[in-house]
Amino acid sequence: MGWNQMTKMRSAYLLFIVAVLILLFSRCFTSGTGSGNDPRGPLYAGASACVGCHRPVFNSTIHSVHFKASSPVDGGALKALAVANPIVSFLDSSRVRVEVRGGSIFQSGERLDGGARAEKLELAFGAGRHAQTYGYWKEGQLYELPLSWFADARSWANSPGFPAAHPRFDRVIGSRCFECHASFVKRNFEPAGPLAVREVLDRSSIVYGIDCERCHGPGLEHVRFQRDNPGVRTAKYITRIGSLSRQQQLDLCGMCHSGNDREAQRSLFDFVPGDTLNHFYFPSFGAGASAEPDVHGQQLQGLRRSKCFAGSDLTCGTCHSGHESGELAARGGAGDLAVRGGPSVVAAAVTQCVRCHGNSAHVTAVLKETEQRKRDFNLTSSTCVDCHMPLTASKVIVLNGGAGAKPIPYLLRTHNIAIYK
Ligand code: HEC
Ligand code: HEC
Ligand code: HEC
Ligand code: HEC
Ligand code: HEC
Ligand code: HEC
Ligand code: HEC
Repeated sequence: MGWNQMTKMRSAYLLFIVAVLILLFSRCFTSGTGSGNDPRGPLYAGASACVGCHRPVFNSTIHSVHFKASSPVDGGALKALAVANPIVSFLDSSRVRVEVRGGSIFQSGERLDGGARAEKLELAFGAGRHAQTYGYWKEGQLYELPLSWFADARSWANSPGFPAAHPRFDRVIGSRCFECHASFVKRNFEPAGPLAVREVLDRSSIVYGIDCERCHGPGLEHVRFQRDNPGVRTAKYITRIGSLSRQQQLDLCGMCHSGNDREAQRSLFDFVPGDTLNHFYFPSFGAGASAEPDVHGQQLQGLRRSKCFAGSDLTCGTCHSGHESGELAARGGAGDLAVRGGPSVVAAAVTQCVRCHGNSAHVTAVLKETEQRKRDFNLTSSTCVDCHMPLTASKVIVLNGGAGAKPIPYLLRTHNIAIYK
């Protein structure tokens, strides 16, 4: 072998080593051993930093609707929609069509005031158990698209709150949607004319979905400590949710499950477990405070109204784990959509009902009948939940079924546990 060849081989070898080292280092930084590069700041580690030590929780939680509460739209997952190529007509005879062009999916309006226009689906809100709403980006702002996908009706329809008369492409989605459907987005304010500012979102800073640290608080110090002290089997520098007071636990879930009609004083991104939710909102007076809570997004108010809540120490955690993964089903929309909690959530709830109400003659009778039907017909009779937490139509979301058609109800599980006739 000549010198030339040897040097070539040496440099190839060196290059190889350097490449391996770069790869190793970049993996360390990106696949999260807690590099401290999280867009939320130096206290956060990112969900991928938790997987090494909490694999079972991680594996179920990444399939939860919380993790999928917002996501970038993946063109490849949208093939189902190309086949249907649906069109929704509006009262003023304009139309919006959902169509695939190249690898992307668009909503395109025809016969609009300004002729035609098409916008690409870039971000999805909602895991799609009931619905999914989409946005497109323009100059740092996210705009809501006129059509949403409704899983129960298996159809596209006017996005909630949009007029039935005419499609709109100009409704801005602010950071507020992200506060409940994502873990972070950085916002800035820019002047927009005299005495006006507009909110501009930094798209590259988005942490999609509701991740571990959204519920558990910043975790980098915990990650570093446990990594450096593998002998320590108890947790340090992370809040034990079970050790919080009942009110603190309710406030944690209630941050996002007590409605979006209140005026926020501070960003919900600043909320950490143990905080008091009332410090984040202006007090609400008048009609809003006493009105019947809606089944959509107001599970906390619903539960508060029930006698079970008043007479016991019930919290959301009595029936839900916070980690539960919805079952997945391809039902159109942006890829694999989640379906609601399902049999395991109902079963967990029924166990709890029976734990507190097992002494009632009525409950004993219902359980006995269920057993009998299971034996005789292999059927499960209606559970406690069907009668005492019935599916109930939302008053704030009603689907426009199209000209002349009946409105389609948006059904959710009421959390006001009571006697319904
Ligand atoms: C190097 C290992 C390691 C990493 C990485 C790690 N943890 Fe932990 N964590 C532990 C240990 C050990 C415990 C205590 C034993 C247990 O509860 O599993 C624990 C406990 C917990 C607890 C329960 C606290 C309690 O007492 O109830 C939570 C919540 C938690 N970790 C969250 C996280 C989150 C969120 C992340 C990612 C940001 C993370 N952990 C990353 C090792 C780790
Ligand atoms: C940061 C906001 C946020 C917090 C905090 C939060 N949730 Fe949620 N939760 C959501 C959103 C948004 C959805 C709807 C996700 C979707 O379908 O897109 C949801 C959905 C759910 C569901 C429906 C699951 C299903 O499969 O149908 C349950 C149950 C739930 N949350 C319980 C809880 C509990 C219990 C807590 C407290 C431990 C909690 N959530 C904390 C925002 C939040
Ligand atoms: C205060 C918190 C909060 C805010 C703000 C909020 N949401 Fe939600 N959203 C929820 C919760 C909680 C659920 C699920 C529970 C329910 O439907 O009752 C939900 C459900 C949804 C769903 C249905 C998800 C599914 O899987 O079926 C869509 C779509 C949605 N929201 C879009 C939006 C959009 C778009 C915005 C901003 C205009 C927004 N949300 C603002 C809390 C919020
Ligand atoms: C929607 C809120 C929510 C999210 C998101 C969430 N958790 Fe939890 N987690 C909880 C609650 C509530 C508890 C307490 C359950 C209890 O008291 O038994 C808990 C308990 C835990 C525990 C201790 C008990 C156990 O089940 O092992 C660990 C560890 C943990 N979470 C880790 C994680 C990790 C890692 C992630 C992300 C992959 C995550 N959590 C995401 C709400 C959440
Ligand atoms: C932690 C204990 C607890 C759990 C769990 C619980 N309840 Fe209750 N429930 C109570 C208490 C306490 C009352 C009030 C009893 C009273 O006032 O006499 C009550 C009252 C009721 C009532 C009577 C309501 C009325 O208006 O008179 C019904 C019905 C009921 N519960 C059904 C259920 C069902 C169904 C479940 C499960 C989905 C459930 N409960 C779970 C504690 C609980
Ligand atoms: C007594 C048991 C119980 C308690 C307590 C409870 N839930 Fe539920 N929850 C259920 C059951 C049962 C379902 C229905 C699951 C299904 O239909 O598959 C449900 C469904 C939900 C859903 C999905 C609604 C839908 O129709 O898609 C959300 C969101 C939710 N719960 C949030 C909460 C929050 C937040 C709290 C605390 C404020 C809470 N739950 C307390 C039993 C309970
Ligand atoms: C087919 C519907 C139905 C089912 C299923 C059902 N209930 Fe009831 N429940 C009722 C009605 C109606 C009443 C009111 C009865 C009355 O006023 O005599 C009631 C009353 C109650 C009460 C208050 C009175 C009492 O007897 O304690 C409790 C608690 C209760 N149910 C719990 C449960 C639980 C727990 C389950 C599941 C094991 C269940 N129910 C299943 C319809 C139902």
